[in-house]
Amino acid sequence: MTAPKQKQMHLAAHFPGVNNTTVWTDPRSKSQIDFSSFEHLARTAERGRFDFFFLAEGLRLREHKGRIHDLDVVGRPESLTVLSALAAVTDRLGLAATVNATFNEPYELARRLATLDHLSDGRAAWNVVTSSDAFTGENFRRGGYLDRAHLPQALGSARTGGTPYTRAAEFVATARELWDTWTPDGTPRPFRHQGQHFTIEGEFTVPRSPQGHPVVIQAGDSPEGREFAASAADVIFTRHGTLEAGRTFYTDVKARLAKYGRQPDDLKIMPGVTFVLGDSDAEAQESAAEIRRQQISPQNAILALEQVWGRDLSSYDPDGPLPEIDPDPDSGLVQGRVRIGDPSPSSRLRSTGGGPIAVAARWRALSEAKGLSIRQTVIETTGRQSFIGSPETVAAELVEFVAADAADGFILVPHLTPGGLDDFVDRVVPLLQERGAFRSEYTGSTLRSHLGLAEPVWKG
Ligand SMILES: Cc1cc2nc3c(=O)[nH]c(=O)nc-3n(C[C@H](O)[C@H](O)[C@H](O)COP(=O)(O)O)c2cc1C
Repeated sequence: MTAPKQKQMHLAAHFPGVNNTTVWTDPRSKSQIDFSSFEHLARTAERGRFDFFFLAEGLRLREHKGRIHDLDVVGRPESLTVLSALAAVTDRLGLAATVNATFNEPYELARRLATLDHLSDGRAAWNVVTSSDAFTGENFRRGGYLDRAHLPQALGSARTGGTPYTRAAEFVATARELWDTWTPDGTPRPFRHQGQHFTIEGEFTVPRSPQGHPVVIQAGDSPEGREFAASAADVIFTRHGTLEAGRTFYTDVKARLAKYGRQPDDLKIMPGVTFVLGDSDAEAQESAAEIRRQQISPQNAILALEQVWGRDLSSYDPDGPLPEIDPDPDSGLVQGRVRIGDPSPSSRLRSTGGGPIAVAARWRALSEAKGLSIRQTVIETTGRQSFIGSPETVAAELVEFVAADAADGFILVPHLTPGGLDDFVDRVVPLLQERGAFRSEYTGSTLRSHLGLAEPVWKG
């Protein structure tokens, strides 16, 4: 009898952008927008034989009390342009751009993705996001389009009769129709798409790309988001990065595939996770605690609190107790999607169990039970890293997660730009390779082949 084959994990590198996990005060921290920073992380990921490099997206600088959010003052370059430049300095690494399906149009985006797929010889991926708040929408021609706060009535009556996800699903289907218009032997054919959200026709300008269809990633956690992923995505980027939550999510999503005629392996589940390494587990725990203190400075603690409470709490002492007043979810104090502890007023909260009042109640209960100050509570609820330990410990835990079907792999979010992945690649990847849990060499040239995804059948 032969031993069952070890499940291979997939790894991706998240460029540490404007997350609250990025430590800016560290002297090793470098520019967020210089090409050299993107290049460093991408080359490191490729040296580690990672599946792909990943860029998140924000379409409007977030605001806090009428001022640009501290985390956003460094700016947010446009992803596909950055990835096109990275295609020239990497050979095998997949290149994934987050691009919003609410505010873009299929023809234009399908062209840009197919172009990246050509430029990179088959390494392009699109993370389809659906953020749709009016604040972000003001940047666009339709201003305020698909405002979630008014769903579904406003949409049903006035606009398209859909939701951000019906639009995203039709968007992806339309992009795939466009990618299929050229025959594999290079003949362009006209297209015509008539649907709820898009009615377009003409000819697509870009020949069929090396992957046929660039890889589609989905990030969004509601039941509608999961269903969309099950029907149309190749990869899910999820926040469920603990063993238990990961297993529950994994089981839920994989079970949704059969009704679309898909196999469990057709959709890879990759939680975004953070890590801290040390020579020993104890040393790693110490650095992790220090990193949390750097991430959640006294000012950041009050900022996080204000994001949950929607109130000006600048008079509160970060080392004192939590406010007794309740949050004001409709104050408009915070504009744009904020990721600290999921307290944003957007729908992201639904998945974590309730709005600001529920989050505040959980934070209060924790603070009372453990006697924590405001800053300690914020550190406890938002700053805990996913994997902490020696390279051996972290490698063993990653393998355990994948073996336990809590994930098919990980999107690693380092806390330093741009060198935050160096140690992982030098110290953890070789251990994963020794265990046979991760590739030692790329075996194919396209991102689809790294992910073990079939070539899409051409639908002529
Ligand atoms: C792990 C994760 C990462 C996300 N990254 C982005 C992003 O980079 N840019 C963005 O505009 N929205 C991002 N989103 C937001 C989703 O696209 C979606 O709009 C939001 O989660 C609401 O959908 P839901 O109710 O299905 O979760 C992300 C969501 C998740 C869960």
